[in-house]
Amino acid sequence: AFEVVAARSGVTVGVPAGVTIAAALREAGVAVNLSCESGVCGTCLVDVLEGVPDHRDSFLTPEERSAGDQILICCSRARSATLVLDI
Ligand code: FES
Repeated sequence: AFEVVAARSGVTVGVPAGVTIAAALREAGVAVNLSCESGVCGTCLVDVLEGVPDHRDSFLTPEERSAGDQILICCSRARSATLVLDI
């Protein structure tokens, strides 16, 4: 499990195993854009302000992946205890 801070929304949510970041945020009332929900379309892309993403998508390029400043919240997770997102 890890924690996601939705900086613009002023909401912090815990994301347990088996729950996506997008689902946890939506549950907390944060408006989330979703389409494919499987990491291929890019609709759910959000900027990462702090923390280290664990990329599980097949959308970002290797360069974008290693830059670590964007995440696809329908499927990717966190390597750090907390992720701060621009949403
Ligand atoms: Fe398509 Fe996340 S909704 S990549």
